[in-house]
Amino acid sequence: MENVAIKVENLVKHFGQGDSLVRVIEGADFQVNKGELVALVAPSGAGKTTLLMMIGCVEEPTGGAIWLGEEKVYDNKWLTKEQRKIRREKIGFIFQAHYLIPFLNVIENVTLIPQTNGVLEKEAKKIAMELLEYFAIADKAKAMSSQLSGGQNQRVAIARALANKPQIILADEPTAALDSKRSVDVVKMLKKIATEQDVAVIMVTHDEAMLPLCDRILTIEEKKVVSKEVSEETAIL
Ligand SMILES: Nc1ncnc2c1ncn2[C@@H]1O[C@H](COP(=O)(O)OP(=O)(O)OP(=O)(O)O)[C@@H](O)[C@H]1O
Ligand SMILES: [Mg+2]
Repeated sequence: MENVAIKVENLVKHFGQGDSLVRVIEGADFQVNKGELVALVAPSGAGKTTLLMMIGCVEEPTGGAIWLGEEKVYDNKWLTKEQRKIRREKIGFIFQAHYLIPFLNVIENVTLIPQTNGVLEKEAKKIAMELLEYFAIADKAKAMSSQLSGGQNQRVAIARALANKPQIILADEPTAALDSKRSVDVVKMLKKIATEQDVAVIMVTHDEAMLPLCDRILTIEEKKVVSKEVSEETAIL
């Protein structure tokens, strides 16, 4: 168990009820280890975002169980009233659009979550500057998001996702808005974070060129989650 970052057992997700019932996930079982970069690949509408949002304690499942590291967070109901706290402490989110806060500069965006978690401003700034340096964007620390390119904004968004030292990174099409070189850079960064910091990363992607950079592929087939080797990629695309 100590190597497991995410474990999901018999996870079910339905939306709506009666005539409008949508069955998205019907009994998914899988796990993701610390240090793994896993691609989540499935057709549009298959439930990729829904799955990430359940793991991230944002969307409530219909049933089943979820563990984040050693902690069981869901067992047919949330096991804590503090989903937001779990989210802030354990999870880093990266989205297709960077969602940086437009009226805060780069470093303020990166320090926001650690400060919300009670880290003092000075320490938060130190962590943030280290991350910005790591992503070669420290010279833009005082810039506003609107002054950065798409790739620069996404690097800041990754720095922000890492600022609370999460055990898990959930990335929903993080490279969709980037050209192919920038996309490869972003995925290589995620791989480096996984390897060097023992973080588990699940990355939704529609870009098959990213798959060889990943350790494993998860896909959603017949409303269940299936694990594949990267070499089997052609079978799922
Ligand atoms: N809040 C909601 N209410 C009702 N149905 C929803 C809701 N959110 C998602 N769904 C449905 O759940 C299914 C899965 O949606 P989801 O967004 O997870 O797909 P996805 O795999 O991320 O697709 P894409 O690749 O287009 O982003 C879809 O049929 C969608 O219509
Ligand atoms: Mg989606």
